Amino acid sequence: MRLTEYAHLCLEKRLNNGDCVLDATAGNGYDTLKAAQLVQPNGRVILIDIQEDAIEATEAKLTQAKLNNFCECHLGNHGELLKTFDQTFDCIIFNLGYLPGSDKMIITTTKDTLSALNQSPKLLKENGMLVVTAYRQHKGGKDEAEQVAQWMSEQKINGWFIEKIEPRNQSDYLSPILWIASKSNLSIPHFPNKLI
Ligand SMILES: C[S@@+](CC[C@H](N)C(=O)[O-])C[C@H]1O[C@@H](n2cnc3c(N)ncnc32)[C@H](O)[C@@H]1O
Repeated sequence: MRLTEYAHLCLEKRLNNGDCVLDATAGNGYDTLKAAQLVQPNGRVILIDIQEDAIEATEAKLTQAKLNNFCECHLGNHGELLKTFDQTFDCIIFNLGYLPGSDKMIITTTKDTLSALNQSPKLLKENGMLVVTAYRQHKGGKDEAEQVAQWMSEQKINGWFIEKIEPRNQSDYLSPILWIASKSNLSIPHFPNKLI
């Protein structure tokens, strides 16, 4: 099972019709689409991306699935935009790195990722789920993942429940890492620890 598929399984377990989701890195819209399918018809998905191409790709997916009415798109930097939100969310998603299929020039940065993560405690409901996937193969990715790991350790000290899923490989390949974090002890599916 791919880590992204497992992250979607966790979304399926937590999200219901009427819930509110923040996708802080919309990219090609796969996570937004999954969330919109799970929370419609009474829920809402707010999505952010710093690239116009990503917002357009996500809007196109939502329109094709007739789910665009449940979604609100923001073009901008999540490190700044999250400071302006005052509602709470059932789920906040960060799928870090670069837009697949793009020139890899625009990537999430440790500074903006931490700035956005620092807003998450006030934006996440008590039983809300924070889903963060970090990739370590691209330049800066390893450092970003280490800083996210450190941030997660600090939340654990504050009483959060943190699940870290880091699939083990035979090779030296640095696999992506997924964190499922919450202020509450959520029941999440078992990860079969086989990465394809
Ligand atoms: C791995 S992709 C996201 C994949 C996406 N969730 C999906 O399902 O297709 C990472 C995205 O983060 C975006 N990004 C990078 N820095 C950002 C920032 N500071 N604020 C918001 N989005 C950012 C990139 O433009 C890229 O589209």
